[in-house]
Amino acid sequence: MNTPVQESIVQQRPLVRLSHVYKTFHAGTVNEVRPMRGINLEIAEGSFVIVLGGNGSGKSTLLNALAGSFPIDSGRIELDGQDVSQWPEHRRACLIGRVFQNPFSGTAPTMSILDNFSLAAKRGKFRGLAWAHSRRLRDELQGRVRELKMGLEDRLDSAIGSLSGGQRQALTLLMATWLKPRLLLLDEHTAALDPKSADQVIALTDRIIAREGLTTLMVTHSMQQAINLGNRIVMMHSGNVLHDFDSAQKQRLRVDDLLSRFENVRRRELLDESAAEMLKSRYI
Ligand SMILES: Nc1ncnc2c1ncn2[C@@H]1O[C@H](COP(=O)(O)OP(=O)(O)O)[C@@H](O)[C@H]1O
Ligand SMILES: [Mg+2]
Repeated sequence: MNTPVQESIVQQRPLVRLSHVYKTFHAGTVNEVRPMRGINLEIAEGSFVIVLGGNGSGKSTLLNALAGSFPIDSGRIELDGQDVSQWPEHRRACLIGRVFQNPFSGTAPTMSILDNFSLAAKRGKFRGLAWAHSRRLRDELQGRVRELKMGLEDRLDSAIGSLSGGQRQALTLLMATWLKPRLLLLDEHTAALDPKSADQVIALTDRIIAREGLTTLMVTHSMQQAINLGNRIVMMHSGNVLHDFDSAQKQRLRVDDLLSRFENVRRRELLDESAAEMLKSRYI
């Protein structure tokens, strides 16, 4: 049996740890960008982290680096106690669930809801469950889809492409979380939806994360979502973490506080831009 001390040590081990992670795209060319500049970040198991930051600050790159979409230049990424820095994307995929901004990515539009889930099962996303295409899959899926309260439980044979963006995102979220991934990555997954659908998908997101206790990184542009959801806020700027609010700090934050932090970031960006222009003009 674990002693309380051992238990607290186990609980303290972060589920995700990035140490000095660097990434540069188009290095040495005029298009060079450095979206990861020595990022250090630890995320405890069960955390629901909101990721904020201006356009191009490196939010998606952070999520992509975790998912293994590209090799990092240097540093180390640990996931669930393992050094996954060299793991290809498909190997990390069994630990990670993802939902992107575009409701059209992640599902095959001409195929039915049921066939999309069957295909995911066959591709091994559901790790060898033999019930792809079986009666059990249909029954289980119908139960889960009914919980969405979107009237989709009787439309399992309809093409996914015939559904609204909100319905598709809800299904993609269901697919991404079906087998309780160790880490859930949401990249502005409601940004392309109308306000009502966005609210619906956000409520669903919150419900699933709370019910399954999923460790989550969610990128959003919505200050309101940032205030209402999660238990930590990480604000990115120029490929690094500029602010990191823990649960207690987050509870005291208001939308206005976040907006003024953003204003400061924007001012910094303008200063960075003018400094870069000055340097350029000096050397050209
Ligand atoms: N695969 C890529 N190839 C080249 N440049 C990239 C790639 N991914 C991101 N970038 C660049 O890195 C910077 C940060 O991008 P990103 O992480 O997508 O920002 P955001 O915070 O808006 O999500 C941007 O300048 C972007 O153009
Ligand atoms: Mg992005």
